[in-house]
Amino acid sequence: RRSWAEPYKIKVVEPLRTTTREERDRAIAEAGWNTFLLHSRDVYIDLLTDSGTSAMSDRQWAGMMLGDEAYAGSVNFYRLEETVQKYYGYKHLVPTHQGRGAENLLSQAAITPGDHVPGNMYFTTTRFHQEKAGATFHDVIIDEAHDTASLHPFKGNIDLDKLQALIDEVGADKIPYVCMAATVNMAGGQPISMENARAVRELTDRHGIKVYLDATRAVENAYFIIEREAGYADKPLAEVLAEFCSYSDGATMSGKKDHLVNIGGWFATNDDELFEEVRNLVVVYEGLHTYGGMAGRDMEAMAIGVEESLDMPYMRSRIGQIQYLGELLERWDIPFVKPVGGHAIFLDARAFYPHLDQEQFPAQTLAANLYADSGIRSMERGIVSAGRDPETGEHRHPKLELTRLTIPRRVYTQAHLDLVAESVKACFDAHDSATGLRLVYEPKYLRFFQARFEPL
Ligand code: F0G
Repeated sequence: RRSWAEPYKIKVVEPLRTTTREERDRAIAEAGWNTFLLHSRDVYIDLLTDSGTSAMSDRQWAGMMLGDEAYAGSVNFYRLEETVQKYYGYKHLVPTHQGRGAENLLSQAAITPGDHVPGNMYFTTTRFHQEKAGATFHDVIIDEAHDTASLHPFKGNIDLDKLQALIDEVGADKIPYVCMAATVNMAGGQPISMENARAVRELTDRHGIKVYLDATRAVENAYFIIEREAGYADKPLAEVLAEFCSYSDGATMSGKKDHLVNIGGWFATNDDELFEEVRNLVVVYEGLHTYGGMAGRDMEAMAIGVEESLDMPYMRSRIGQIQYLGELLERWDIPFVKPVGGHAIFLDARAFYPHLDQEQFPAQTLAANLYADSGIRSMERGIVSAGRDPETGEHRHPKLELTRLTIPRRVYTQAHLDLVAESVKACFDAHDSATGLRLVYEPKYLRFFQARFEPL
């Protein structure tokens, strides 16, 4: 019996629009072969991201009516604060408009130019804010994370030897915090084990270094701990999440993922002094400290989403959808990152197009070809996303050259996933005809969002 059938039924529907091959060829050309620049009305199944694309529940929509749109001291802020304190366990909360707002505040408040920030692989906006604040980022994830075929169950783990080596090299006083991401997005949605989080805490405690969690998909991480780590099989998600967060001093959060809302985020910390600083900074960049760029109704929906995300049948079906798509692709020997991660299937574009050089943008090419084939929108997570080294100005060459099929929460059905698999197969069968792309326009910051390409 399927253990992961959706624990909800559909109450409101949104029609999908189909297009012809000619229309799609025109649309992708107009978008400069960058799926970020497509108009969403030209997209059939949108797997660009799981960020802000969730379907809210009837309860969340009801919560929207309870929005207290006061400039200061909104009821919904206190409800959100209480909810985050209860489930994530941190002492202080600062709301932000989304995750990168929180990253900006933490980076500005905690980093001094010349500092070093270790992290388990990078995330685009997170590293950007760290570098902008004057820090150098160091990837301390285990080597297995860079290997698409490694079946390590916790490929998000921090390599303690790499972390210790960095501390020995630059000194603990130059490391304001370790940036620890739960289910590492760029590695393929790969989790960290509880054992690893605990060990990172012990190591950093010995050197007086803080740990800040990127809690964006921490509930999904908790699910993998329950599924894969000894001693957690019978524990509720909330308990595992609370223990996991207890090994950090605070967190940045993009509520657009785990919290099942379309916008919002927060920063949280146990550190009274840092809280004072961030609560002061938030009024400059986001809004007053009791709304941080969110409407009251958005904070209410988010507080409800926190509780819904901790429901085990929901989470089992969420991860189950991605595993189902993985099983379909596996049957056809399509190369993708294994084990299947928490929010997406990451196609291995190097293995898809072995004849293309990384500087011919294989993952970008695959995203464009998949769109042209069926109107399915995916995202590049390879050399374009990695950007340029701020010192040398050269392309960074990440080992992983991936095209991400990201599954929004509670949005698509199994039949949609069947269709996705069929289109990926069609592109795989036609892989010989892929010619690669050339970069023709490159913005200065986070180039993948707005870059333009032309076929070679
Ligand atoms: N951290 C992680 C791990 C993320 O995946 C994201 C966003 C952020 C921080 C930034 O949060 O978008 O709310 O400002 N990831 C989206 C994605 C954009 O498509 O993976 P944000």
